[in-house]
Amino acid sequence: MRPDLANYAGREQAYVKHHFIADYVEQLVFKVGSRRDVVYIDGFSGPWKDQSENFEDTSFGIALESLRRAKKTWKDLGRGERTMTALLVEKDPEAHARLQEIVPRYPDITIKTFNDDFVKLVPDLMRATPPDAFSFVLMDPKGWKIDMQAVAPLLRRANCEVVFNFMFTMINWSASIPNAAIQAGLEALMPGTDWRRRLDAIAPAVGRSTADARKAVLVEAISEAIGRLGAYEYVMETPVLFPTKDRTFYSLIYATRSPKGVEVFRDCQHATLKAQDQVRADLQVAKRDDLFNTTDMFGGAITGNEFAGRWMAEQEAAALMAILERVPISPGSITYGNLWPSILAKHGVRKTRLGRMAAELRSDGRIEFLDWAARKQVPDDAYRVTRRVNPYA
Ligand SMILES: C[S@@+](CC[C@H](N)C(=O)[O-])C[C@H]1O[C@@H](n2cnc3c(N)ncnc32)[C@H](O)[C@@H]1O
Repeated sequence: MRPDLANYAGREQAYVKHHFIADYVEQLVFKVGSRRDVVYIDGFSGPWKDQSENFEDTSFGIALESLRRAKKTWKDLGRGERTMTALLVEKDPEAHARLQEIVPRYPDITIKTFNDDFVKLVPDLMRATPPDAFSFVLMDPKGWKIDMQAVAPLLRRANCEVVFNFMFTMINWSASIPNAAIQAGLEALMPGTDWRRRLDAIAPAVGRSTADARKAVLVEAISEAIGRLGAYEYVMETPVLFPTKDRTFYSLIYATRSPKGVEVFRDCQHATLKAQDQVRADLQVAKRDDLFNTTDMFGGAITGNEFAGRWMAEQEAAALMAILERVPISPGSITYGNLWPSILAKHGVRKTRLGRMAAELRSDGRIEFLDWAARKQVPDDAYRVTRRVNPYA
């Protein structure tokens, strides 16, 4: 169930974050809940700045609803009972006291709350997670002081996915402060990634702002750290913008080991970016109405040239080049199933769109599928693909 924008006045960025979490957790739990018990681990639960009556605008409230629905669906389908567990961590005693109010509302879910520092609790959280369960770890701190090495055992679990809220604006600003404790804290967050030297090496480049270049370095560094410490093949980012500025406020970093996870992430990301554009357009209209004392009943009209539209066009162009670069020259070939996950992991296109792009490249004669069956619109994973011509021709 998607969050209700009415609960997010003045913190629209949290709506965007929750839109993504709602879509993703729903699909994830439904997908893995057929095979495994699911454990949702919220390392920084809150409640924090919630405005709804029943925690519907909190990450744990949203996740618990998804767990409940998936559990009911599997039962209704006659697939048996799945154990759904939520491990909710909150350091602040007052917030933790409020967090506990959620427990009696979900008798169908096993909920354990913890009132301590998330990093300190990693061994307890490991013990509370059955070895064969699928765990989804959400780390959404207010700041960035996290010792990622200490969190690594949780990230490394065999069946696990992670979403980390990387507070880009705050981290970017902190990275420029010459203070030994701050620099050591950032090193603990992104250990062994050489982030400092990479930031210092940024040279002014035509058509690219320094902020964009710094974002690329920092997002790459945290992605590398999570990928290495948690042994994740795929780590991706989706930006959450300031509500009224075209700049990243924070980045949601998602890690998975499964191509299906990559596919679902891109679907949820596209839906979230479109919702973000709509929220921002509505805010623009509200601002204009305030200024001119008018009332626009219809909200902001989306033109397609907002952030999502521009970003998606850029990502598509890069994905097209990536197909051409990665398809081997004949007699070499690669199966489509081995091609698409790495392209989707790097470039923000949906799998359905990439399939259509591959089909168009085939029609244009720029790539060749050796096993294409009659009347197929998009390639199957088993199809081998090759090319004969210069990809840039
Ligand atoms: C950004 S809020 C979380 C919001 C929540 N994830 C949501 O989307 O509704 C961060 C929360 O983490 C708590 N917190 C801060 N440091 C913590 C720590 N070291 N361990 C656990 N919780 C912490 C704060 O008290 C705050 O409630």
